Amino acid sequence: MLHLWRRSQVPVKQPIKISRIDNLIIFLLCILISIISSYKLLLISPLNIADFFSWLLTFTEILVSSGILILVAKKENPTISSRQIFLIITLLLAVQATKLSLASSISPLSMIIPPALIISQGMGSITALAWVSIASFSWPDPAVAINNNLFFILLVCSSVVSLLGGRIRSRAQLLQLSIFIPIGSFLSQWLLIGKDKVSLINKQDFVYGDIFSDSLLLAIVMLFTILFIPVFESIFGLLTKARLLELADKEKPLIRRLSIEAPGTFEHTLLICGLAEEATRMIGGDIDLIKTGALYHDVGKLHAPNWFIENQDGSKNPHDELDDPIKSAEVLQAHVDEGLKFARKNRLPKLIANFIPEHQGTLKMGYFFQKAKEKNLDINEHYFRYKGPIPQSKETAILMLADGCEAALRAMNINASDKEALETISNIIYSRQKDGQLNDGNLSKGEIFLIKRAFLNVWKRIRHRRIQYPTSKNNTFS
Ligand SMILES: [Fe+2]
Ligand SMILES: [Fe+2]
Repeated sequence: MLHLWRRSQVPVKQPIKISRIDNLIIFLLCILISIISSYKLLLISPLNIADFFSWLLTFTEILVSSGILILVAKKENPTISSRQIFLIITLLLAVQATKLSLASSISPLSMIIPPALIISQGMGSITALAWVSIASFSWPDPAVAINNNLFFILLVCSSVVSLLGGRIRSRAQLLQLSIFIPIGSFLSQWLLIGKDKVSLINKQDFVYGDIFSDSLLLAIVMLFTILFIPVFESIFGLLTKARLLELADKEKPLIRRLSIEAPGTFEHTLLICGLAEEATRMIGGDIDLIKTGALYHDVGKLHAPNWFIENQDGSKNPHDELDDPIKSAEVLQAHVDEGLKFARKNRLPKLIANFIPEHQGTLKMGYFFQKAKEKNLDINEHYFRYKGPIPQSKETAILMLADGCEAALRAMNINASDKEALETISNIIYSRQKDGQLNDGNLSKGEIFLIKRAFLNVWKRIRHRRIQYPTSKNNTFS
């Protein structure tokens, strides 16, 4: 019964829901892509049954491939929104339509590589690779065969862009990529196919432009794509590495406000960033995401900084004056609600805003619950639990654990042994586990073990920093 009751306190995990209309539009777009990519097979005259079946096969193949692409994108990005699926499918549609009208005059390099860069930046390398394979294989005009060498160069360049695009951490690196890929494609085309221009068109009656102008066009399209990536970020809610690092800048107005108006919370935030970053590195999670998420997790405390212990510096505690545990619990919950309002106002991406409610999950505000129980034994625990949801990703789960351990580690005696620190960390993590807070975070037992070791390593660093070095009057250098 106790277990069932505890489970009932945890909200059921909400998968990202895509509305029926969005699903229908996505399906219709996939049908349109399949038609565009295969209809030329129906134009053969006279059309016999074999030709019709060959069209049907191609049509189904492309439709299924588009479905697989969506599944891959969902697998790589469990929180993908319908807007982002629209982006992937619309880019595929745009490429197929461009191929249809411009295949004879534009190199496939400039059609496929730039969209691959957008997808890899916003949705990861695997989605980009899946997109590239479908976009390059489903050629709308089957009569137009690309030169094998050109196809090989296309696959190599777009794979490099897809793999690097998912890792690139600054706009400067993006610019370098947009220069080196066209240079690389120019050199490889020149070496593999440039000497014999006729082979470039593979005995067909259409003509590619000059290799140089092709590569120049690729460079220009890539530069334009980089220029427009911030627009894609805001329209489709993409979270690129460059955007994450921009948000992690401590000079951002919201973070500056936190450091000035709530210095205690700011210090707490910095320490949590250290703990969470180390733990995420240990388990191989997204370090840039957690660093930025940690920075914004408590911005809601700006609504009433002095109601939180870390900002009180020994002065009066307003909770004592209020003397109403339920009202105090409401103030604590408000740091989550107000945080979400700040996130909306400052247009923080959803993945970052998720850290705000999920770092508290449905945790019990134990101190105020005890106070309330002293006054009234029948008080319902429900009033003293955060509204949740519980952490839905590894990163938000790590942040919850770091948030729990931070104060305990900071308060520990400087002479405490590693064993004592590890015991404190283990107790806090175990209590979160027992409370059902880690049920949706997908952390394995092994990962939880690594997180404990990571927190211990950070504690050792803190302890080292606090040890005073012996200095004499004559020895002031460091
Ligand atoms: Fe918090
Ligand atoms: Fe916190």
